[in-house]
Amino acid sequence: MAVLAPVFDAQVFADRRRRFMAELGGAAAVIPASTLVTHHADTEWPFRQNSDFWYLTGLDEPDAVALFLPHRPEGERFVLFVNPREPSAEVWTGRRWGCEGAVDRFGADCAHPRIELDALLPQYLEGAEGIAYRIGSHPLVEPLVLRAWATQLDRAPRTGRAALALVAPCPLLHRMRLRKDPSELERMREACKIAASAHELARAAVRPGMTERQVQALIEQHFLEHGARGAAYSSIVAGGDNACVLHYIDNRDTLQEGDLLLIDAGCSLPDYYNSDITRTFPVGGRFTGEQRELYSLVLAAQEAAIASVHPGQTAEDVHATAVRVMVEGLVDLGLLLGDVDGLIEQGAYRHLYMHRTGHWLGLDVHDVGAYRLGEHHVELEPGMVLTVEPGLYVSDRLAVPEGQPPIDDRWKGIGIRIEDDVAVRDREDVACGHEVLSVDALKAVQAMER
Ligand code: GLY
Ligand code: MN
Ligand code: MN
Repeated sequence: MAVLAPVFDAQVFADRRRRFMAELGGAAAVIPASTLVTHHADTEWPFRQNSDFWYLTGLDEPDAVALFLPHRPEGERFVLFVNPREPSAEVWTGRRWGCEGAVDRFGADCAHPRIELDALLPQYLEGAEGIAYRIGSHPLVEPLVLRAWATQLDRAPRTGRAALALVAPCPLLHRMRLRKDPSELERMREACKIAASAHELARAAVRPGMTERQVQALIEQHFLEHGARGAAYSSIVAGGDNACVLHYIDNRDTLQEGDLLLIDAGCSLPDYYNSDITRTFPVGGRFTGEQRELYSLVLAAQEAAIASVHPGQTAEDVHATAVRVMVEGLVDLGLLLGDVDGLIEQGAYRHLYMHRTGHWLGLDVHDVGAYRLGEHHVELEPGMVLTVEPGLYVSDRLAVPEGQPPIDDRWKGIGIRIEDDVAVRDREDVACGHEVLSVDALKAVQAMER
């Protein structure tokens, strides 16, 4: 059983901070960590660090606040406010790094107890040309930032200076996070490898009469045994018609012979890199004719969409590729009626395919980064990672658009999604311009049967 030690390379985080501060120019940034979230009564959910804070610090503790102060002299630019060492608290919740660890391990130029943020923030922000803080991100830190800024504005007539603007750090930070470096891609390969083997394990184990919950347990046990933090999101284990509910997470029905099983499950590593994989296969080991037709169609759409991933394309192009293949196939099957271009233009397929074909993937499952800037769709570049996840969901939940054929009962209750995680690669390194990180999860029609 491979258990992964959390990887901590201080240099990686230092490099990111240097790049971030270079982009900030004369603005100071305030990036808070997450806090613990109550589950019920006095019980909390497991801690989940804020991904921006993690990306810049690697510190996995609640309540901290990081300041990035490029306007200050060298040696005073990265300041951490943290929960200090305190044996009476640590005996309940575990070891803290404290101010000493913040400096020695996490590379802070200086560190203070979190409780001092209120008093010290104004002087740290003094002299910055702007303040980069994401409004709405933290109810306790936000009033402190606003108060510090207001004080600067009040005093500006006599001091002669104040931060001119409160700006969002997201565009530049998320532009950085959108392009993964080689060490990040390696972590995502690892997350995909663990999740792919969990999908393989589940498919081999599934039999009619098992519950969706049992399959979820198998998958999530595998994640934990292989060193993941756990599931990256609530695992979807959806037999039969449940698969037509896109975010079905009840996972409490019994699997029936003759149904398909859709499993959308990925893991999160200790350093928060995620995988997000969906596979769909017959519970009883053999597709029915209709299931095979639709599965083959989704697979063809997914393979065409993946083939279209390379530098210079856009996520919009990838979506358009999947939609076209599926609409052509649905017309051939008699599930749609009309001219393919017209059907696409009118969105007349959306009662069968109602979501987008993918999203960025990284420290967040639906990762940060723009898909479009104004009218311009963001071009794929080496290092970006996106999911490619077309699907078809045949049920009565959405009305058939006017002019489209009613759906014969034999198709109903079929929900299929096939989802892989794909890194955009430089064509000089990988001729096709992409790498399927989740390649170990099989998906050929024959591989789904037994
Ligand atoms: N599992 C969430 C998604 O596929 O987007
Ligand atoms: Mn996804
Ligand atoms: Mn998914």
